[in-house]
Amino acid sequence: MNNIKLSGVIKSSASSNIALVKYWGKKGLQIPENPSVSLSLCQSQSITEVAWEIKEDRTSALEIEFYFEAQENIEFKQRVIKYFETIASLHAIPHHLKLKIKSHNTFPHSSGIASSASFMASLALMVRHLDALINDLPTSGPEFSQAVSRLARIGSGSACRSVYGPICLWGQLDGWRESSDEYAVPVQNYHDIFSDYRDTILIVDSTPKKISSPQGHQLMHEHPFKEKRYIQARENCKKLLDAIIMGDLATFVRIVESEALMLHGLMMTGTKPYILVKPNTLAIIDKIVRFREKTQIPVAFTLDAGPNLHLLYPNHFHEEVLAYIKRELVQFLENQNFIEDRVNAHPTTLEYI
Ligand code: PMV
Repeated sequence: MNNIKLSGVIKSSASSNIALVKYWGKKGLQIPENPSVSLSLCQSQSITEVAWEIKEDRTSALEIEFYFEAQENIEFKQRVIKYFETIASLHAIPHHLKLKIKSHNTFPHSSGIASSASFMASLALMVRHLDALINDLPTSGPEFSQAVSRLARIGSGSACRSVYGPICLWGQLDGWRESSDEYAVPVQNYHDIFSDYRDTILIVDSTPKKISSPQGHQLMHEHPFKEKRYIQARENCKKLLDAIIMGDLATFVRIVESEALMLHGLMMTGTKPYILVKPNTLAIIDKIVRFREKTQIPVAFTLDAGPNLHLLYPNHFHEEVLAYIKRELVQFLENQNFIEDRVNAHPTTLEYI
C-alpha cells in the first residue's frame, strides 16, 4: 500500500545568512565564480505556508496564488512562478499542482538581511518536502538536505547556505572534498567559540538599493579585476576556514573585514561604478576599528550589498558591545534601529498544519 498524498498544508521556515567570504560573480543557474563561507542566522527568518493540491489532469499547468505579508505581490509572484517553471523543467516538482503560498519575514525589508536567501530556502524546503510527500520519498536525511540546498541555489545563490548552520561553505574548494558549486555543505569542525556567535545588524539606511544583486553579479563579468578576485576569494576561504576551526579570532576579523571592503571595492571599480555605502557606514567602521583597538574585543564588521553593517563577535562580549552600540553608534542609525541576532545550527523548520 502506498502513502501517496493528494493535498495538504505545510509551513516551512528558513533563516537568512550573512556571507563572511563573499559570493560575487556567477555563471549559468547560480553557479558561483568563487566559493563563499557564511554564518546562518536565528531571528531573521522567512516563514512560508503552502496549501497544495494535486490536480487529476496530469497534463494541466501549474497554478499559483502568492501572497507576501498578506498582500498579492505581482513582482514577487512572477519571480515565484519563474522559479517553479525552472524547477518543474528539472523534474523537481510535478506541473499538475495547485498551490496557494503565503510568506512573510520576521525582519524589515532592506534592513541588510538577505530576504531572498531566507525566502528561497524556505520555498526550496517546502518544494522538496512536497515532492517527497507526493512521491512517497524520505523527508529528511543528508540527501534530502542536499537536494533542498541545490533547489534553494536555483532560486537565489546565497539561499543554498541557509539550509545548514551555524557555518556553511558553498562552492568547490581545494582541500574540502565534499564542497560543491551546486549546493552548500555545513562546516563541521568549527571551534566552539562560533557555536553561539553574535550578529548585531545596524540599520544605517533602509531605502531600497539602486543596483540589485543580480545586476551586481552581472557587472562582475566585465570587471577588470575579476580573475584576481576569484583567486583571492579562494585563498580567503581557506584561511578563514582554518581560523574558524582553530578559533583564531584575529585572522577571522582580518579576513571578514577585508572581504566586506572588497565587495564594495569591486562595486566602486567596475565598468559601471556605483557606491552603496553611506557616510554613516564609514563613520561606524571607523569607530568599530577604534573600539576594537582600545578594548581588544574582537568585534568584526561585515557588509552585504548595501549600507547596513553586521557586527560579529563572541557571545560573552554581548553586554560590552551592546552598551557600546547604545552609547556610541545609535546616533548613526536610521531611527536608532538595530536588530540583535545570533548564529543558528538549525536554520530550517517544517511543520504540517
Ligand atoms: O544570492 P544573491 O544572488 O542575492 O547574491 C548575494 C550576494 C551577496 O549577498 C552580496 C554576497 C553573499 O555571498 O551573500
